[in-house]
Amino acid sequence: MASPWKIGLFQCIGLMGSWKLPENTATDFLDLDHWLTMARRCEEAGVDFLFFADDYGYPVVDDAIPATALRGGIQFPKGDPTAVLPALAAVTERLGLVTTLSTTVEKPPMVARKMATLDHMTKGRIGWNIVTGAGQNASARLFGVPMTEHDKRYEIAADHVDLSLKLWEGCWDEGGLVQDREAGVYADPAKVREIEHHGPHFDAKGVLTVPPGPQRTPVLFQAGASAPGRDLAARYAEAVFLAAEVPALKEQIADIRRRAAAHGRDPRSIRCLIAGTFVVAETDAAAQELRARQVATKTLDDAAASYAFFTGLDLSRMDPDKPLDPSAGLTQTGRTNVERFLGPNAPTVREILEEFQRNSVMGTPYVGDVAHVVDEAARVIAETDADGFLVQPDHTGTFDSFLDLVMPELVARGLVSPQSEPMTLRERLGAPSPHLAPEHPGAAYRSAATALV
Ligand SMILES: Cc1cc2nc3c(=O)[nH]c(=O)nc-3n(C[C@H](O)[C@H](O)[C@H](O)COP(=O)(O)O)c2cc1C
Repeated sequence: MASPWKIGLFQCIGLMGSWKLPENTATDFLDLDHWLTMARRCEEAGVDFLFFADDYGYPVVDDAIPATALRGGIQFPKGDPTAVLPALAAVTERLGLVTTLSTTVEKPPMVARKMATLDHMTKGRIGWNIVTGAGQNASARLFGVPMTEHDKRYEIAADHVDLSLKLWEGCWDEGGLVQDREAGVYADPAKVREIEHHGPHFDAKGVLTVPPGPQRTPVLFQAGASAPGRDLAARYAEAVFLAAEVPALKEQIADIRRRAAAHGRDPRSIRCLIAGTFVVAETDAAAQELRARQVATKTLDDAAASYAFFTGLDLSRMDPDKPLDPSAGLTQTGRTNVERFLGPNAPTVREILEEFQRNSVMGTPYVGDVAHVVDEAARVIAETDADGFLVQPDHTGTFDSFLDLVMPELVARGLVSPQSEPMTLRERLGAPSPHLAPEHPGAAYRSAATALV
């Protein structure tokens, strides 16, 4: 029997999708109650995790944020998800919580400490989405540094993850935390190790001061489907987010699994989750009408600002009747959304803008009544060899229609198996243990460094 699908829900601390519709509540993103309600709803409906996208970027055109982005709320505004996560952990018991930290912006000991603390605060339900960072042109400008070249960002990411893994896996042996009040011993110096790292981009010597939580290493997610992005996923990720049309998804998933095997990992141990927009209503006609209302909230100028955010390219300056120039593929900002529009049968610039107006980066939505969208989703899972979905918010800005209509249907068809017991996120995603698999590169760092005495 095929494994049950894994279901995550996509959010960010900001506006998403159709915020201009009157029934949409995304503008409440700075109200903690908005998130507490959403987390409780997700847990009750049995989804596996709530995911927060994040980056420091925003669209930049002519060396400034365009007025369109400010007016239209295009990849702007954005708040910090790590400030919200512990509150969500407090009102849930089973829901996984996944957040994004950029390896370009955050230093490894900062990521390691933050994630190790969150592993405790969530009782082993935390995941890290490893990204080199969307909107890099804006982010570099904001931090006052030159933009690091695209492929170099991925080399930095690999070194970053390597060091973070040493900190999580290598510093504390099992039994290192003693907490014996009578003997006055907090930690056993023979079981605490100082790691040393001399990589191409990071040097470090020392200990992670947070004792290991239930998972030790957060569940490692990755997003960014350029070739170096896929390689990073194949080396380290336990789950990957992908968004594209079906043929491209199929290729990307096969490529990630191939690369994982080449890195000595079980290709099936990587959960490939595809972005899914479900526009679902009681009838097909109502769903189509809803879809039309959603699309009508976005202009072609919004689409151009959104494209500029992901790629650093301004489509509004290009000939609308020609495809992208192949040199666009050399952009130093993000490449996933350039590469998907190059090659044979490449669309024109106008068609790319129209695609972004309709679907942004997320690929064709599933629109219709519940039976239809679940049939379609099942077809896509079978065709792409994916393991589940990262579901986009609906017209309400939350997930009401997915939770009320689609989840019960997935349960009824046996396509998902909601868990009723608390467990770590790693186990919830199907791993046999709360810890990294023995063949994961991080496992090699266990007990490998010098103990302090
Ligand atoms: C579902 C999904 C979620 C993503 N979440 C983030 C995110 O939170 N932050 C981010 O910087 N990039 C995120 N990305 C990746 C970016 O879209 C972008 O591709 C990447 O950061 C640049 O890498 P690339 O050159 O490999 O495309 C996500 C991608 C997908 C498909």
